[in-house]
Amino acid sequence: MTATPVIARTREELAQALDSLEGSRALVMTMGALHAGHLQLVRRAHALADHVVVSIFVNPTQFAPGEDFEAYPRTLEADVAALSEVGADVVFAPEPSEVYPVEPRISIDPGPIARVLEGATRPTHLGGVALIVTKVFGLVRPDVAFFGQKDAQQLAMVRTLVRDLDLPVRIEGVPIVRDADGVALSSRNRYLSEAERVHARALSRGLNAGVSVAEGGRPASQILAAARGVLEVEDGVDVDYVALVDPLTFDEINDVTAPGTPAVLVMAARVGSTRLIDNQPLTIGGVAAGLQAECVHEADGRPADGTEAAR
Ligand code: PAF
Repeated sequence: MTATPVIARTREELAQALDSLEGSRALVMTMGALHAGHLQLVRRAHALADHVVVSIFVNPTQFAPGEDFEAYPRTLEADVAALSEVGADVVFAPEPSEVYPVEPRISIDPGPIARVLEGATRPTHLGGVALIVTKVFGLVRPDVAFFGQKDAQQLAMVRTLVRDLDLPVRIEGVPIVRDADGVALSSRNRYLSEAERVHARALSRGLNAGVSVAEGGRPASQILAAARGVLEVEDGVDVDYVALVDPLTFDEINDVTAPGTPAVLVMAARVGSTRLIDNQPLTIGGVAAGLQAECVHEADGRPADGTEAAR
């Protein structure tokens, strides 16, 4: 499947490109620097809709001063080449001045979910994501939009945004794609040195440890202790948080939570100067499967064989 997508750099070009698409429309929002995880989102979108629009935009409003907005990798040519292989119809790649022609006077407060975990470290981040997601939904008007489970808190916030504001779009979450060594794919992995990359494997090992304890029917505190224990003994890993949360609200789950309750084990850690996040859905009191992920070979970035577990 090789067909160069139409590139739209302005709202007018986007509107023109959308006018020529008949049938259902899926949206995959990205900040570019595409990896196999993004391409998997596009494949899923392609399977469920007639047309796929991919946005590539490093959104300034979700970065705080001092974060990596300027340094964030921008690789449009390579991204378009990769998208040509997986069936994107339109790439919307605007400049910030096109998206924000005037300083927005409206801001969106996504509520309590924006103040915990990722929100505690990055207090303005999820508000900035909510703003750009709402704007791009308005510009593209998709029937369905795909987001990676890798950013579980962002996915939960987007689901809540759509529910609470009655936005006319369906949200689909797509499982994390991992390299063969268990590290979840992320555009920021390219900041890791070779040695840091080895330390980064502790995150998926920590998730596996937590899942094993959950499968043994043990309570939240023991799941957390197992996951945190793996991270804490790894040199070069500075733990930010390890938590068990409700998949939609991100409220913390504790030892009195009823068995059978769905949860997400989430973690963030700094490896060198790179902040990594990872997570794994599980069920409190057992019944969980292994680390849920699609596994890719590091060398070619292609899925190994469907949905192989990366334990
Ligand atoms: O997940 C991301 O890459 C970004 O937060 C998103 C959803 C593209 C919004 O800028």
